[in-house]
Amino acid sequence: MKPIRVGIIGMGNIGKHHAAYLMAGKVARCELTAVCSPSPQKLESYKPLRVFGDPEALMSSDEVDAVILATPHYQHTTLGIRALESGLHVMVEKPISAHKADAEKLILAHQARPKQVFGAMFQLRTEPRYLKIQKLIQSGELGEIVRMSWIITDWFRTEAYYASGGWRATWKGEGGGVLLNQCLHNLDTLAWLLGMPSTVRGFCQLGRYHNIEVEDNVTAYFEYPNGATGIFVTSTGEAPGTNRFEIAGTRGRVVLESNQLHFTRNDSCMVQFSREARVGFSKPEVWNVEIPFENAASPHATLMQNFIDAILDGTPLIAPGADGLFSVELANSILYSTLLGTSLDLPMDSGAFEMRLNQLIQESRFEKKVVEIVNDDFTKSFHR
Ligand SMILES: NC(=O)c1ccc[n+]([C@@H]2O[C@H](COP(=O)([O-])OP(=O)(O)OC[C@H]3O[C@@H](n4cnc5c(N)ncnc54)[C@H](O)[C@@H]3O)[C@@H](O)[C@H]2O)c1
Repeated sequence: MKPIRVGIIGMGNIGKHHAAYLMAGKVARCELTAVCSPSPQKLESYKPLRVFGDPEALMSSDEVDAVILATPHYQHTTLGIRALESGLHVMVEKPISAHKADAEKLILAHQARPKQVFGAMFQLRTEPRYLKIQKLIQSGELGEIVRMSWIITDWFRTEAYYASGGWRATWKGEGGGVLLNQCLHNLDTLAWLLGMPSTVRGFCQLGRYHNIEVEDNVTAYFEYPNGATGIFVTSTGEAPGTNRFEIAGTRGRVVLESNQLHFTRNDSCMVQFSREARVGFSKPEVWNVEIPFENAASPHATLMQNFIDAILDGTPLIAPGADGLFSVELANSILYSTLLGTSLDLPMDSGAFEMRLNQLIQESRFEKKVVEIVNDDFTKSFHR
C-alpha cells in the first residue's frame, strides 16, 4: 500500500513541529512531500521536498493526498474548504475556525464529501491523564457529574509573544485571545469529557495584562443540562498561575493538579447518604486513590497516525473535525456573553456573533508593531 503523501500549509511554530516528527518517521505509512509558506526563507531547509509559496498551487499540484493546515485561524476555514473541494483529506489545526459560523461552513463542506477524512489537531485527547478521567466518567465511577472547575491561569505569555505575529491577539487576525488560542485545547477537552453546557456566562477582560485588544483574563460560569455547574478561569498574564482541574460527581471527586491525578471515591452515593443518614454532620466514607499516568511521548504524531489510519483503514478518528465546533462555540459564547452583559443559552446564534465580531474588527483602532521573537522553545507550551 502506498504511503499517504502529506503537505503542510503554514510553516510557523506548529507547522515546523509537524514537519520535524513526520520527517523523523514517527508516523507510519505517511510521507511528507510538500510544504507551503509565503516566506521563501522558511522553505529553503525543506528542499528537496516540493516547496510552494501559495496554498492553491500545493493543493492542485498532485504531490499530496492530504494537508495539515497550520496557518492563522481565519484561514483554516477558507483553506479547509478549498482543500476539501480539491479532493484532499484535511487535518486542521485548532481552532477549526475563528468563529462558529465559519466552523459550520467548514463542517458543511466536509459533509458534502464524507469519504474524505477531516480531522482536527486536538492532541490532548491522546494524553493518558485525560483518557483516565474519561474512563472514570464513562464507567460511572464518579457517579452523576454535579460540578466542574478548571482554573488554568498558567498560560503565561509575554508582550514579546504577542508582538511576534501580526495576526496574534487582534479581532481581525485571530478573532479572540486566550480562549480561542491557548485554551482551545482545554475547551475541547471539557466538551469531549462532559458535553456542552446549556448556559454560559462569561466575564472577559480585554487587554487586562498586555497591550492587546482581545481577552487575556477570563472567568466563566457554565450550567449543564442535568443541573451540574462549572467554572472556567484562565489568563495569559498571571505568574506563576494555577492549573487545577476538578470534577465532582455523586460518587466522588477527581483532581488533576501538579502532574498528579487524585480520585477521592465516596463509599456510597452522596445524595443517597444525605437522604438516609440519621445524623446531621457525617459524610460518606472515602477511599483515596492516586492514579498513575505518563505524559504522551509525541501527542501530535499520535493524532496524525490516527488520521493516516482513518484514511487507509477507516479507523475512527480520535478528534473528528466536526467536533471542533464545540470548543469554538465555548470560546465564542464566553466572549459574546461578556459583550452582551448577560447569560447565553447554547447553542448560540452563530450569525449574530459573527456580526458582532465583524463590528469589533471594523471599530478596531489597534495598531500592531510586529517584532521577530528570538530562539524560543515553543514546545514548552505543550504540557497541559
Ligand atoms: N495543536 C497545537 O499544539 C498548536 C500549537 C501552536 C499553534 N497551533 C495552531 O496552529 C496555527 C498556527 O499557529 P503558529 O503558532 O504556528 O503561528 P505562526 O504565526 O508561528 O505560524 C503561522 C504561519 O502561517 C504562515 N501563513 C500565513 N498565511 C499563509 C498562507 N496563506 N499559506 C501558507 N502559509 C501561511 C505564516 O507565514 C506563518 O509562518 C494556529 O491556528 C494555532 O492556534 C496549534
